[in-house]
Amino acid sequence: MILVLNLNMAIDKTAYVEKFNKGEIHRFKSALTMPGGKGVNVARALKTLKAPVEIMGFSGGFAGDWIERELGAEGLKPCLIKKLKGESRICYSVVEKSGCSTDFNEDGPAVEKKGASDFLRAYERKLASANMVSVSGRSVRGLPSGFYRALAKKAAFKKIPFFADLNGFPLMEILAGRPAGVKINNYEFEHTFKMPFSPSSMKKIFLKYKTEGMEFMIVTNRHMPFYCMSKEGFFEVLPPKLSSFKTPVGAGDSFMAALLKCRLDGRNIKDTLVFCAAAAACDCETLGAGIISMQGIKKYTPYVKIKENKI
Ligand SMILES: Nc1ncnc2c1ncn2[C@@H]1O[C@H](COP(=O)(O)OP(=O)(O)OP(=O)(O)O)[C@@H](O)[C@H]1O
Ligand SMILES: [Mg+2]
Repeated sequence: MILVLNLNMAIDKTAYVEKFNKGEIHRFKSALTMPGGKGVNVARALKTLKAPVEIMGFSGGFAGDWIERELGAEGLKPCLIKKLKGESRICYSVVEKSGCSTDFNEDGPAVEKKGASDFLRAYERKLASANMVSVSGRSVRGLPSGFYRALAKKAAFKKIPFFADLNGFPLMEILAGRPAGVKINNYEFEHTFKMPFSPSSMKKIFLKYKTEGMEFMIVTNRHMPFYCMSKEGFFEVLPPKLSSFKTPVGAGDSFMAALLKCRLDGRNIKDTLVFCAAAAACDCETLGAGIISMQGIKKYTPYVKIKENKI
């Protein structure tokens, strides 16, 4: 089973409007309301890809109970640690007809005392049945330093591959815990490593962590080529042109889900990257995040261009 960690669970609301005008009242028939957070999007896409998945995170209040119930109904087997000092957060995305999206993301309440140690205990129990672990998204306030490193380290100790899609200090902590792979975008690369993104700066970072067991590093850049440095080589991939477009929000999460599914199935790196690009393109055709279909992936697969470069 793939254990997906989404520490800061949310209720995501997506509203679709003709045009977003600052300072005006907008009325719309209804909003798409779902449990959210980057990890939830990943888990949802994994479910579509027919991968066995379970999800863990912190939750709080009535909002937390609603999230837990809905995740269960989606078959995502939630294990939520109810140790937040308040209600789980609500995040709003307003998507315009043009595809432009304006997001209002609440930070959410902090973790209660002992919340982190309760989480780590439950996490250890879950690791007993996990084949791999993935962590995505924003952190929760109030976590002790070393928490992310402990997540990665505990998995590495049990030889369970650990994959991360986050940035800043949580990513730096995870890198110290010997993850198997990292997938971020170019802004996250620059923010975390404090250097402009280029294939050569990426190489510098990858080679540093490769010696500690990292199998690959992927850096995406929206519709532009993305790069993967791996034990198998250095690849540049051009995403397909979209035949219809709603919003790119969550494309990275569907990308991550596709990546995890391919690792679980033992697919080679080239097929994996093509599958990821097709799944991410498919996500751009839908409102909401992590919403993909096998049909959409098949449609885009022939249009992904991949080339191998010298490291
Ligand atoms: N306009 C687009 N056309 C085709 N593919 C796209 C487009 N936008 C994103 N993608 C695909 O999605 C992948 C991830 O996109 P991006 O770099 O925006 O990730 P991200 O910033 O992590 O996204 P997220 O909002 O999910 O966190 C890209 O590498 C690409 O394959
Ligand atoms: Mg992302």
